[in-house]
Amino acid sequence: MNVLVKDPIAWTDVGAVTDIPLRGARRVPTPSGDIAIFRTGDGKVFALKDACPHKGGPLSQGIVHGHAVACPLHNWSIDLASGEPMGADRGKGCTPVVPLEVRDGRLLLGRS
Ligand code: FES
Repeated sequence: MNVLVKDPIAWTDVGAVTDIPLRGARRVPTPSGDIAIFRTGDGKVFALKDACPHKGGPLSQGIVHGHAVACPLHNWSIDLASGEPMGADRGKGCTPVVPLEVRDGRLLLGRS
């Protein structure tokens, strides 16, 4: 018996990878809140809800370093892969990670 497995995630094209500079970020408004998309110095991309787990600071306005972003409000470092605070603030909350893929140089933001 053949079974057709459908992709359970709806993907939305939100622009070209190169629209985001290396070590930069972009805010994408969505009906369920703003999403921050980050591009690291080595060209990897990540997407998180645009709200710091501390007091909701806009992570899209933070400084990208390595695979983390420094929140612009109180300088917590947030791991871009997990959304979790790093260092002394580890374990103090978590920012939701949003599915993100790159296909043919385009950023596809997922919504399950
Ligand atoms: S709101 Fe981000 S560190 Fe305080």
